[in-house]
Amino acid sequence: MTTPLSTEEVATLRTQTPGAELVTHFNHAGSSLPPQQVLDAQIGHLEREARTGGYEAAADMAEEETAVYDSIARLIGGRPHEIARVEHATTGWNAGFWSLPMEAGQRIVTAEAAYGANAMGYLRAVQRKGVSIDVVPSDASGQVDVAEMERRMGDDVALVAITHVPTNGGLVNPAAEVGAVAKAAGVPYLLDACQSVGQLHIDVHEIGCDLLSTTGRKYLRGPRGTGFLWASENIIDRLEPDHPDHYSAHWDRPDGYTVAPNAQRFELWEYSHAGWLGLGAAADVALDIGTERIEATVRQQADRFRAALAAAGGITMYDLGERPCGLVTLNVDGVDATAVKTALRAQNINVSVSEPHSTLWDATRRSLPETVRASVHYLTTDDEIDRVVAALVALR
Ligand SMILES: Cc1ncc(COP(=O)(O)O)c(C=O)c1O
Repeated sequence: MTTPLSTEEVATLRTQTPGAELVTHFNHAGSSLPPQQVLDAQIGHLEREARTGGYEAAADMAEEETAVYDSIARLIGGRPHEIARVEHATTGWNAGFWSLPMEAGQRIVTAEAAYGANAMGYLRAVQRKGVSIDVVPSDASGQVDVAEMERRMGDDVALVAITHVPTNGGLVNPAAEVGAVAKAAGVPYLLDACQSVGQLHIDVHEIGCDLLSTTGRKYLRGPRGTGFLWASENIIDRLEPDHPDHYSAHWDRPDGYTVAPNAQRFELWEYSHAGWLGLGAAADVALDIGTERIEATVRQQADRFRAALAAAGGITMYDLGERPCGLVTLNVDGVDATAVKTALRAQNINVSVSEPHSTLWDATRRSLPETVRASVHYLTTDDEIDRVVAALVALR
């Protein structure tokens, strides 16, 4: 069994996190607190750009920028040429989604706890491509019902797409079991790993997905406005970027172009070089700690938090799944979620509010109201958990 980080190790990581002692941050699933290494990489590059020019600074840092692909590939068990740099998870998800072949009459098979932005993609594909959406119900635990998904496979399935860790509910969908179903059916599999990368140990080959999208700012502790798409080399040649520029494709003849090899086909020429270097620093921090130890520590602190909330009483938790993760979804009985967030903010405690429309299918099935999402990370201490629970109890 993997050992969680010790109190001393967490203390050291907190000293390398400028915000750790300034705020009680239970919003790591929104945007985590970046470590100093991420700040240094970004600010260093902004300084370089200011003093030498943006293009010249990029040329000077070409090797370091290439190394970011290596770090990210190691983080998820992929290969550097399978990584595309994107601005955030939804850009990456859309780049992958719209590159897949889909024909009228085909089905997109997905799960109930889908993220709103992805649902917009499915609904748009219904209009634009004439496909239909097949939402596999959840099982008794709240996870996607894998046996039912298997029954729904068929020749007319264009794509299996699920969210690994949905926006709220602490749910961890059985991504690898879904991968086995998709593989057996020979159907491409797109995984939204926006909230699992940096929180859970991820290996794209263990999961068996073909495409995986994520963001930098959440559990990975990278800069805002960064993310990546991983596209398996087994499928990439069949993927046609929906909106290439002359970096994702080579304009090699007046009336046509040739799509760039590998995941570069999903990248546009312009991007934040400081952000990309910051994302690389965040990946390196996670690699140094070890993703298995990160997962063990997040789960340990989430279990402690849930136990303390249950013991406090007067707090309803809405979590799902056999083994909920670091996102704890709750309401203080009788108190509006936004009022809770505002009251906590006044005490320098950060949480966020989840609105039903961000997971409408799941929220409708469960008649979910607005809920408070309090998300812990490996940085979260027992003292912070006590402080947040006491603050919530005082609001009853
Ligand atoms: C499950 C899930 N997927 C995708 C996204 C979108 O991420 P981004 O805002 O980086 O596009 C979010 C954002 O909260 C999310 O919770």
